[in-house]
Amino acid sequence: MNGSTIVVAGATGNLGGRIVGVLVKRGASVIALVRQGTTPDRLERLQNLGVITIASVEFSSPSQLAAACSGASCVVSALNGLRDVIVETQTVLLDAAIKASVPRFIPSDYSIDFTKFPPGENRNLDLRRDFHKRLDQTSIAATTIFNGAFADMLTGQMPLILFKRKRVLYWGDADQRMDFTTMDDTAAFTASAALDPSTPRFLRIAGDQLSARELTAVVSEVTGKTFRLFRAGSLGMLGALIKVARTVAPGDKDLYPAWQGMQYMRNMFDGRAKLEPLDNDRYPGIRWTTVRDVLSAL
Ligand SMILES: NC(=O)c1ccc[n+]([C@@H]2O[C@H](COP(=O)([O-])OP(=O)(O)OC[C@H]3O[C@@H](n4cnc5c(N)ncnc54)[C@H](OP(=O)(O)O)[C@@H]3O)[C@@H](O)[C@H]2O)c1
Repeated sequence: MNGSTIVVAGATGNLGGRIVGVLVKRGASVIALVRQGTTPDRLERLQNLGVITIASVEFSSPSQLAAACSGASCVVSALNGLRDVIVETQTVLLDAAIKASVPRFIPSDYSIDFTKFPPGENRNLDLRRDFHKRLDQTSIAATTIFNGAFADMLTGQMPLILFKRKRVLYWGDADQRMDFTTMDDTAAFTASAALDPSTPRFLRIAGDQLSARELTAVVSEVTGKTFRLFRAGSLGMLGALIKVARTVAPGDKDLYPAWQGMQYMRNMFDGRAKLEPLDNDRYPGIRWTTVRDVLSAL
């Protein structure tokens, strides 16, 4: 064992489970926080990741959370949700970590660099910003990981590569580079940061950085088919469409309504949230997965 005890909240989630898996492989003692009532099959999936302690907790209970965090050197949050989770539940978790004298906290950010543009442009990232206001008032050492977009989404949810139409969609500038990191690489780096006794407030990573034009070349080469650029419109037009979409289909209680995805697109294509300088070399042993790797695995 490497002697560190790391608490992971959101361990049943997509990213959280991967972080737990890497921590176990690195020999850490892992305490996975799960909600009371988590079904046996999901608990079993966690147990299959290796030797971990599963703590079933009531996330609104400061005392239960503090007891679960006792003795840990870092609390990693991979929770996902809206204000009730990102601001409220994470605050209870943060207070519990402080009460249990845990020295370090990694909030559930894992995004583009939202410190580089003002509030009001991206609802989900504004929630993280609101949580930071609380976090930064405490004395716990906090580290945010910025990883751009999950590269895995390029073959699924992210409407950039239109495989059937052989087009790469973009807004504004086809040469604006964007950051992509796989979930596995983000998890590996987060685990390293959790085990590192001293980290700065922000760490920035990118498995790859590509513009829409470069993406078009890569997807053409990998698939052997000719993809072309498709300019959907200007960033101003995207802004107008976001307003229309938010009026017509508000879905304010949904985590990812259409307009939220469009807000991420706007932030990526306007270049302000671009990650630099990168901390990719901070930990040895992480082989960064490129977009070409992701597309080649299709
Ligand atoms: N950069 C990107 O492109 C990108 C893309 C996707 C996600 N992310 C970020 O990655 C992080 C993790 O996302 P994910 O996709 O891994 O999320 P996920 O798979 O939906 O997992 C969310 C986790 O949070 C837990 N959770 C949700 N509500 C809770 C509550 N009220 N109390 C306690 N636990 C609660 C869930 O528990 P249950 O299993 O019990 O529901 C689950 O363990 C988030 O910060 C998200 O924004 C980034």
